[in-house]
Amino acid sequence: MKILITGGTGQVGFEVVRLFSSFATVFAPTRQELDLYDLNAVSYYLSHNQPDLIINTAAWTAVDAAETERDCALMLNTSLPAMLANYCAINNIWLIHFSTDYVYPGHGEIPWLETDTTGPLSYYGETKLAGDIAIEFSGTQYIILRTSWAYAARGKNFLLTMLKLAATRDSLSIVADQWGAPTPARLLANLTLLFAERIRNNLTLESGVYHAATKGYTNWHQFATEIFNLCQQKNTGLLIKNAGQVKAIPSTAYPTPAQRPKNSRMNLNKIERMLNIKLPDWQSQLQLTMDELL
Ligand SMILES: NC(=O)c1ccc[n+]([C@@H]2O[C@H](COP(=O)([O-])OP(=O)(O)OC[C@H]3O[C@@H](n4cnc5c(N)ncnc54)[C@H](OP(=O)(O)O)[C@@H]3O)[C@@H](O)[C@H]2O)c1
Repeated sequence: MKILITGGTGQVGFEVVRLFSSFATVFAPTRQELDLYDLNAVSYYLSHNQPDLIINTAAWTAVDAAETERDCALMLNTSLPAMLANYCAINNIWLIHFSTDYVYPGHGEIPWLETDTTGPLSYYGETKLAGDIAIEFSGTQYIILRTSWAYAARGKNFLLTMLKLAATRDSLSIVADQWGAPTPARLLANLTLLFAERIRNNLTLESGVYHAATKGYTNWHQFATEIFNLCQQKNTGLLIKNAGQVKAIPSTAYPTPAQRPKNSRMNLNKIERMLNIKLPDWQSQLQLTMDELL
């Protein structure tokens, strides 16, 4: 099976490439090898390499910058997936694509269902939602994995930011009124593999949107506290100056250009049923990622 994986240098893409490379022919062009803003170049790349499956992990993920650098966000998050989906539809191959909890309006406390009405609060969320819709209407067979709070032992993410800040700041103030499920890139790669296996073996697979995250919910303040607790328990030697000084603050005390949803809880029943799995909780997955980091 020939698989095109975009965004292979990103958090999720790196793990997907690492996992898939051992059993499939993987094309994972870097930005230097294929600039994804250049849709003509993408089109040429596709017709030249003729993949049997496309896994699109590439995206414009700078949520605040998306508010001002709108063209870039739109190109990567909407035009690119639309174009990939059209290619997949014409060539009768599957597209696996990543989306986000930011497509939901973020109110209430009930976990979102894949069928719930969307309502992004940010331009990033709008462009990601438009990408999802373009895929849906392309006529291709697709899996859209809507995930939340992605992190890994590498890349730009909350875990690594906390470790850096805790080593240098005397105290930290972290938002405690946004709720969701921190999800390691490695888990997302494993889920992608389960879907790809079904595609390769022609097993029953319902085309559509799936939530993909860890079980349970937390807020950023609790997540940070758990990170620092684990650092201390594991006697990591990581410099944590003031793990005890983590103050909980409301979102209003930490204004950002893009508004974040307060409720990013996602119902995971659909993916568990489809893949016949039980997803792990966020705490055990954090431990695994910390072990990898150490
Ligand atoms: N991060 C999160 O918290 C989060 C939460 C929910 C959903 N998601 C979704 O999950 C997916 C993966 O996110 P991630 O955190 O792994 O993203 P990431 O770490 O920011 O990686 C983005 C990837 O896209 C590539 N890329 C961007 N512009 C490009 C261009 N013009 N040409 C070629 N490559 C380009 C980047 O390449 P360079 O390395 O060269 O920049 C990088 O490999 C995305 O669809 C995202 O929307 C993420």
